[in-house]
Amino acid sequence: MNEYAEITQMLSKGTVVQGLDFNNPLVFPFFPATAFRKRSLTEAMDASISPFSYIRINNPNREALAEVVNYLEQGEKSLIFSAGMGAISTTLFALLEPGDEIICNRNIYGETHRIMSVILKKFRISTNFVNFDDIQNIRDAITPKTKLIYSEVCSNPVLHVADVPEIAKIAHQNNCLLMIDNTFTTPIAIKPFTLGADIVINSLTKYMNGHSDVIGGSITTSAELMKQIEAYCIRMGTSGDPYASFTMLKNFGTMHLRVRTQMANAAKLAKALEENQLVKKVNHPSLKSYPQHELAMKLFEHPERISGMLSFELSGDIKKVDEFMSRLSFVSYAGTLGGIHTTLMHPVSTSHKEVPVAEREAMGITSSLMRISTGIEDADDLIAEFNYALEVLA
Ligand SMILES: Cc1ncc(COP(=O)(O)O)c(C=O)c1O
Repeated sequence: MNEYAEITQMLSKGTVVQGLDFNNPLVFPFFPATAFRKRSLTEAMDASISPFSYIRINNPNREALAEVVNYLEQGEKSLIFSAGMGAISTTLFALLEPGDEIICNRNIYGETHRIMSVILKKFRISTNFVNFDDIQNIRDAITPKTKLIYSEVCSNPVLHVADVPEIAKIAHQNNCLLMIDNTFTTPIAIKPFTLGADIVINSLTKYMNGHSDVIGGSITTSAELMKQIEAYCIRMGTSGDPYASFTMLKNFGTMHLRVRTQMANAAKLAKALEENQLVKKVNHPSLKSYPQHELAMKLFEHPERISGMLSFELSGDIKKVDEFMSRLSFVSYAGTLGGIHTTLMHPVSTSHKEVPVAEREAMGITSSLMRISTGIEDADDLIAEFNYALEVLA
């Protein structure tokens, strides 16, 4: 089927899983069963005859979803987890040993920062947080103990862009693994595995599911690394819930349409906010003023196909921000992202609340920074909504 476009091929994936005959329903059925019957001990002992056993170990809904994720990310193997954080923590526990070091982009999601700076530290795995905007900082931070380099493609919430192919070269020259979080960008915009990343994580809760109704995460990697990761996932109990996988597979059908609209809306809104005198600063890599615009243009096909996320700095105190928010009609404040509805969030009081202030400020996260996750609304309505609400700052 190679002659068809990605969207066309993707819709034919995740319809069959080995060992189950469903009489061809048009959509993949839901399997809540915690276990599958075995007709004989021979069948129980031979996974090639009957691959499904117990819900924590394997499940048809997770497998069907993993096939689609794997197709989109172009990896060797993908696995579905309970959450993006489940995918990240399980993978780091599976691949690292006490005494190992991580080099992590200092511009990173707050909870990922906490996993490394607090939880892994307890197990004598240390993390050096450096600024990946200058990749020389990565070379300088490498030690003989460095085992893994970690970054988001576009960081939460300031959208710093990581030069994935160049970072992959540094990782491999130094026998390190490169793990990349593609949550903000999705495989619709970029496929880090094809650019040299060894492990790709997605919080499926966000753009890929897109409907703000279930939680899940994925890891895409080589078959060899997946053996280790899967063994930890089974024992740590971080496998994805079947209902979430069932729901996500349905919602994946519209992923191209949704995500492309969201990314185009973000670029259009970023441009409009930049033109608004009442906004101090706008962060979106599509903007020519964005410090890493050129790098973004090297990595992404089009300025309107980078990320549905943007952030901006408001002038004024909290009271003014409250007034600004009270003037919004269809845009809601919510502590998530990637859904079809545009949402707004204040990183200092939510996602990055626990990151020490100095580190937060070094990331560019100030108390006047607001993060926007653009939905699929009409772009002109969205621009008018923000411009109207911003008038309170005049
Ligand atoms: C960039 C990024 N990675 C990972 C996660 C974690 O995902 P989840 O909430 O599905 O655990 C998030 C959550 O916001 C995120 O923004």
